[in-house]
Amino acid sequence: MTGALGRRGGRGVGADRGRPAAGPAPGAEGGARAPDAPLLVGTHLGHTYRGLASPVLADISLEVRARELVGVTGPSGSGKSTLLSALGLLLPPSAGRVVVRGEDAWASRSAARRLARECFAWILQNSACLEARTALENVAVALLCQGERRNASVVQAADALEAVGLGERLGAVAATLSGGEPQRVTVARALASGRPVVLADEPTGQIDPAGTDAVAAALRSCATAGRAVVVATHDPRVARRCDRVVELDTVALGRR
Ligand SMILES: Nc1ncnc2c1ncn2[C@@H]1O[C@H](COP(=O)(O)OP(=O)(O)OP(=O)(O)O)[C@@H](O)[C@H]1O
Ligand SMILES: [Mg+2]
Repeated sequence: MTGALGRRGGRGVGADRGRPAAGPAPGAEGGARAPDAPLLVGTHLGHTYRGLASPVLADISLEVRARELVGVTGPSGSGKSTLLSALGLLLPPSAGRVVVRGEDAWASRSAARRLARECFAWILQNSACLEARTALENVAVALLCQGERRNASVVQAADALEAVGLGERLGAVAATLSGGEPQRVTVARALASGRPVVLADEPTGQIDPAGTDAVAAALRSCATAGRAVVVATHDPRVARRCDRVVELDTVALGRR
């Protein structure tokens, strides 16, 4: 991207910023689906990695609707990242079904690829910001890569950053951001992407408690803005902001 991005006219992230969206949830529009139908359903999911004697996941079922923030907790090695990968269609599970926006995701590999691209935004522990670019540019560039027009990208990026509490930091160069601010930029990026399901894997793994609270609040804003959010976390500060928590257990699988 060349030149600094400034905020100009165009379409925003939506009128849903910072409060529950009044209309249909992202991804729920069209078709005959009920407005409150789950965006993401995993049924009896199981997974055994090649070479491992016992399963990492066994018989896990969950449903996530728009505006829900669902936590996945459990000790290290209990399969949190594996579950997110299965839900986000990065990993075909050994057993069970994943249904996204009412569609059987693994009906074909091309369906899985399409749904993975259209429906999921990822936030990882080390999700990177472009250090020499501003917070605004870091979000806008992702929208430009999705094919959004420049002016609209800037407006949507600014709206998303405001929604995660970074409205005063739009022009801050990423290298100068501190605490949970870089991760909040990545939450804003997920929010601005328009993808209906946000999957966050240990998004607060490397930040202090204050930063963690800010990221948890940003994830909550993401759900409030109409996304379905699933967050794998070790952190009780994040887990207690969730509507529900799925706890994975290594003992039950004989893998302690
Ligand atoms: N690609 C792989 N091949 C073989 N085993 C794997 C693979 N990925 C993960 N595992 C194993 O599966 C188990 C679950 O891993 P996973 O990363 O899902 O756990 P986790 O709960 O996310 O752990 P952490 O809290 O440390 O991130 C671990 O025993 C891990 O070593
Ligand atoms: Mg993990």
